[in-house]
Amino acid sequence: MEKLVIRGDRDLRLCGEVRMSGAKNAVLPAIAASLLTSEEVRLSNIPRVKDVETILTLIAELGGAYKVDGDTVSLRVPKIRSDEASYELVRAMRASILVLGPLVARFGKAVVALPGGCAIGSRPIDLHIAGLQKLGATISLEHGYIQAQADRLRGAVVEFEKKTVTGTENLLMAAALAKGETILKNCAQEPEVVDLAVLLNKMGAKIEWLDADTARVRGVRELGGAAHDIIPDRIETGTFLVAGALTAGDFLLRNVCPEHTATVIEKLRASGAIVETEGENALRVAGSREVKAQDITTSPYPGFPTDMQAQFMVLLTQAAGTSIVTETIFDRRFSHVNELVRLGASIEVQGDKAVVKGKTLLSGAEVIATDLRASAALVLAGLVAAGETTINEIEHLDRGYERIEEKLRGLGASIERVKT
Ligand code: EPU
Repeated sequence: MEKLVIRGDRDLRLCGEVRMSGAKNAVLPAIAASLLTSEEVRLSNIPRVKDVETILTLIAELGGAYKVDGDTVSLRVPKIRSDEASYELVRAMRASILVLGPLVARFGKAVVALPGGCAIGSRPIDLHIAGLQKLGATISLEHGYIQAQADRLRGAVVEFEKKTVTGTENLLMAAALAKGETILKNCAQEPEVVDLAVLLNKMGAKIEWLDADTARVRGVRELGGAAHDIIPDRIETGTFLVAGALTAGDFLLRNVCPEHTATVIEKLRASGAIVETEGENALRVAGSREVKAQDITTSPYPGFPTDMQAQFMVLLTQAAGTSIVTETIFDRRFSHVNELVRLGASIEVQGDKAVVKGKTLLSGAEVIATDLRASAALVLAGLVAAGETTINEIEHLDRGYERIEEKLRGLGASIERVKT
């Protein structure tokens, strides 16, 4: 087990330059898409994070082969040895559900453990299942496993009751190999969903966006290989932008897509930070010691991302006045609040809202986080908390952030990874 030890400083100013990694939530479906073809899929700009290792392990268990070289992975799945995603892997990473659509579309069968609840809420997958059933899959639940079967999926009209990111991705992949045309309505519009459609089209799929949240997929018999560069991670970008605003720092973030982070940038500017684009794929952030309070409400893209809620809340603890944070996507995504309170923040949860009163001076303590973004929030808080903050159980952080301590150290933070 490892932990992070941060020597915080209320006067810390992060400066310099930092490079963002490829998007975790874009590379996971892209890797799952390799199951749709016997040819090679080569993905570059991949982040070296634990969730990527987990899905690669799953591909190997199913019978696929892969080779990682720096930030590139080449995958090949000529045939499968198994059609089962085990409970062990699905429990380790819910995004394992992304193999369901591709397996049933190409091999006619998939057995995937049903993910249970998780640290951020109940997270059902009923919409993935209902969509695949519409395409003609027979689905049953036995011994905690979803058993899906189909001779060949058939195109249909599927309207998602609610926007779902991985649900849309599963259906795009399944419909790509279905017979006939599929119309997917009320699709999630996250950049990671769009990036998957770009990859699938490179592989020979026929996906067209009729409008921002409606896709037409003309099914094809077979897909082929492709090479694809994964988009930059907009949540890592948002996390570092908050680090800049929080420390009144001044630094450059490279390998970013500013457009994907627009809502977060808007809120950062409203809070008093300067955020400017530098060319097409760099951003400069310059924070201010006078942070303004404001309300945020999470919503599907292009709204304020739930994956940035915890990190932004840390900035709001340093704002003068009261801010209200409303979480509309997940029902229990406030696990960071009690830990932030231990560091000295004044935050009260009332249903789906957190009321943050600032400005509070934070002081270091030992904390623990049970989900990825909550862990990132604690790291940010630790940077400006006086004295030492120890973050335990950092395996959550390692699931989605590549070498976060090295990147922060490069900007002037005092942060070490130590074995426990
Ligand atoms: N939902 C249903 N039924 C379903 C699917 C979803 O009711 O069948 C509900 C969920 O309970 C939630 C809402 O719909 O209330 C949206 O969930 P969604 O399906 O969009 O979430 P997801 O696909 O499981 C992805 C990201 C999450 C991110 C959410 C929301 C990946 C691998 N994961 O999850 O990322 O929070 O979209 O944007 O893409 C993270 O990176 O830290 C993370 C949790």
